[in-house]
Amino acid sequence: MSELINEINRLKKERNAVILAHNYVNGDIQDIADFTGDSLELSIKAQNVNAPVIVFCGVSFMAETAKILSPASKVLLPVMDAGCQMADMASAQAVADYRKANPDTVLVAYVNTTAAVKAEVDICCTSANAEKVVKSIPADKKIMFLPDRNLGANVSKTLNRPMELWPGCCPIHDQVLACSIQSARAKHPAAKLMVHPECPPEILALADIALSTGGMLRAVREAAPGSEFIVGTEYGIMHRLQKENPDKTFYPLEPLPTCRDMKKITLESIRDVLADLNNEVILPAEMIEKARRPIERMLAL
Ligand code: 13P
Ligand code: SF4
Repeated sequence: MSELINEINRLKKERNAVILAHNYVNGDIQDIADFTGDSLELSIKAQNVNAPVIVFCGVSFMAETAKILSPASKVLLPVMDAGCQMADMASAQAVADYRKANPDTVLVAYVNTTAAVKAEVDICCTSANAEKVVKSIPADKKIMFLPDRNLGANVSKTLNRPMELWPGCCPIHDQVLACSIQSARAKHPAAKLMVHPECPPEILALADIALSTGGMLRAVREAAPGSEFIVGTEYGIMHRLQKENPDKTFYPLEPLPTCRDMKKITLESIRDVLADLNNEVILPAEMIEKARRPIERMLAL
C-alpha cells in the first residue's frame, strides 16, 4: 500500500497536480488528498487553485464545477462513471423547458447538477449556503428549487418562503428512516443527532443539528471534549470526524448510508489518471461560460 502511495506522491509532484477530495470518499483517499471538504469548500478551492492538473476525488458534477471554475487546469476524474443519482434527476432539456414555460421564476440549482443544467439556471447553492442564497432573492419573485426536493423543503420551512420544488432527491439521504434514528437514539441516549439537509423534513424534525458535511465537522470541533454524536449522513465522513476528534465518539446510522458512486474512487484509479492523464473533464467553452455565472453569483454572496 505504501508503495502505491509513494507512486501517487511521485506522479503528483511530476505533474504538478493537486488532489481534491469530498468528505464522502474512502478514508485512504482523504489521507492522500491535498484538500478534503464539502461542496462549497471544494468550489472555493477550485476557484483559487493554480495547478495545471487537478485530480478530483468525488463525483462528476463536482469535477465539472472544478473545471468551470478553473478552466485552464486539466481536471481529471479518476473514475469517469462516478456520477450522482440526484443530479441525474434533472436533465438540461427538462430545466430549459421549465424555464421557457415559467420565464418569471428564479431558478435556484443545488450544485448537485450537471454543467448543462447550471448553464440554464440563475443561481447555484450548496447545502452550506442554501438559506443565504434563497434569502438573497427578492420576496416578490417565484422560485423553483432544483433538483433536491428535500433540501428545498427544509430551506422553505426554515425561511417560511414558499418555493416550487423539483421532484428529485438523494436516494441515500432520502432513505434515512425514522426507525434507524429511533434505534440509534435508544442505544446512545447521550449523543447529539446530526443529519444532512438532503434528508426529508420529517427526519430533520427528529435531529438536533442539520448541517452540510463541512458544517458538521466545524460543529463537532467546537463541541466539548467527550461529546458523542449520531451521524446521519454518508458514512465516508466518519473518517475525518474520528481522525480530527479523537476525544469524541461517533455512531453511524444502521443501515450504513452509502453512496456507491463516491466509493468508486480508489487509490489505484488516482495513480492511473496521474500516470496517463486520461479521464479529463471536457466541457464546451460556451457551456463553461454560461455555467460559471450562477456559481459565481453564489460565491459572490
Ligand atoms: P456537502 O458536502 O456539500 O454537504 O454535500 C453533500 C453531498 O451529498 C454531496 O454530494
Ligand atoms: Fe449524489 Fe447523494 Fe451521492 Fe451526494 S451522496 S453524490 S447527492 S447520490
